[in-house]
Amino acid sequence: MADTLTITDNRTGKTYEIPVENDTIRAMDLRQIKVQESDFGLMTYDPGYTNTASCKSRITFIDGDEGILEYRGYPIEQLAEQSSFSEVAYLLVHGELPTREQMETWEASIRMHTVVHENIKRQMEEFRYDAHPMGMMISTIAALSTFYPDAKQVDCQQNRMLQITRLIAKVPTLAAFCYRHSQGHPYNYPDNQLGYTENFLSMLFKMNDNPYPLLPAFVQALDVLFILHADHEQNCSASVMRAIGSSDADPYSALAGAAAALYGPLHGGANEAVLKMLNEIGNVSNVPKFIERCKAGEVRLMGFGHRVYKSYDPRAKIIKRTADAVFEVTGRNPLLDIALELERIALEDEYFVKRRLYPNVDFYSGLIYQAMGLPVTMFPVLFAIPRAVGWLAQWNELVEDKEQRIQRPRQIYLGHGRRDFVPTSARP
Ligand code: SDX
Repeated sequence: MADTLTITDNRTGKTYEIPVENDTIRAMDLRQIKVQESDFGLMTYDPGYTNTASCKSRITFIDGDEGILEYRGYPIEQLAEQSSFSEVAYLLVHGELPTREQMETWEASIRMHTVVHENIKRQMEEFRYDAHPMGMMISTIAALSTFYPDAKQVDCQQNRMLQITRLIAKVPTLAAFCYRHSQGHPYNYPDNQLGYTENFLSMLFKMNDNPYPLLPAFVQALDVLFILHADHEQNCSASVMRAIGSSDADPYSALAGAAAALYGPLHGGANEAVLKMLNEIGNVSNVPKFIERCKAGEVRLMGFGHRVYKSYDPRAKIIKRTADAVFEVTGRNPLLDIALELERIALEDEYFVKRRLYPNVDFYSGLIYQAMGLPVTMFPVLFAIPRAVGWLAQWNELVEDKEQRIQRPRQIYLGHGRRDFVPTSARP
């Protein structure tokens, strides 16, 4: 049997042999299918790209039915258990686990770039006292592009690696500045004696010149959360990173766009929306009524459902276990009982079962961030920090992929046919 699709166009009786490669057909192979020779030819129509591959990638593999997630072939469960975020960042960007020497060089190069230009601080101070941290984060990442005009040399591999290192190093500093601004506290500078995640926690919470007393349970929990959020193949924000990168824009501008896409409550903003939802429900006794409102289509069960996972998001399982370790230190978050009851009912209810809706990465993560003392407005920012690594790995792969071109989808035009302009005097 040949690896082809035989298509018969019943409008003309013609048949076409379309090659099948990697279980896909090339959309451009459909353009030969026409009724008249002058026709444009067939396209596919796929709102939300539910069944369209935009690229070939070797970074992250997801099997939505089996609940499998692998970074460069390594199962997320093993990475969360045995690796560190800093090492996973190297794996995602470079494709292999680092040797000891490579790891030392990698961590040293990131430590060298954690500081941001003083003007960034002054720029951030201009935001309103109650500015949403994610709005500040998106704007400030874009502003970073003005400090590194050399980043426009996207065709230079060495330059790309420098910018990737700079951004991985600076995103936590910007995130901590956003938090400190929202709290009205002085900004903390990076402490390069600390590891990546420790340094971020210290910049968030240090209140004087004494070293911040890092709780091992918090450091471990946040490092695992960073690993789980680092990449997720062609999600909405990664697709935006690729779309902006496809025009040869610099990686700072592309990453600001990706962060903007992540901000949406249907995407990375869901972790903030989950906490708002749990607070709105308020009590376990109100859960059945809320579930009925979901089923009536009045509200969405935020933190549930996924375009790819039609089984339990493997990240949610790990986050749930991580939450227990944090609550041992902080005491149990009362909202957890509401979340557990929502999950219990939803996993039994036909509405959710039929639509294969399960908890996703955002359902439990916010409970941990809140237990650590962070406000819900910081939750999308906490998603953006690790995901910056995935965005940059995807961007780098795009730039190196000779098959990739500037992204410019087509449309189905259903508007007016040609008509002549009507001067105001002749209008009703
Ligand atoms: C992330 O893509 C990624 O990989 C994303 C991410 C990553 O790591 O990058 O995993 C991170 O964004 C996780 C998702 C976080 N978002 C939420 O938790 C928001 C709530 N979830 C949904 O809005 C929804 O499930 C999406 C956006 C996640 C997925 O949307 P789809 O695939 O377009 O599904 P859909 O909206 O077409 O829903 C299919 C059906 C619909 O019902 P019917 O019209 O068939 O009757 O399921 C229903 C929806 O109404 N549905 C829900 C629901 N999610 C889908 N009903 C109630 N509550 C929900 N959460």
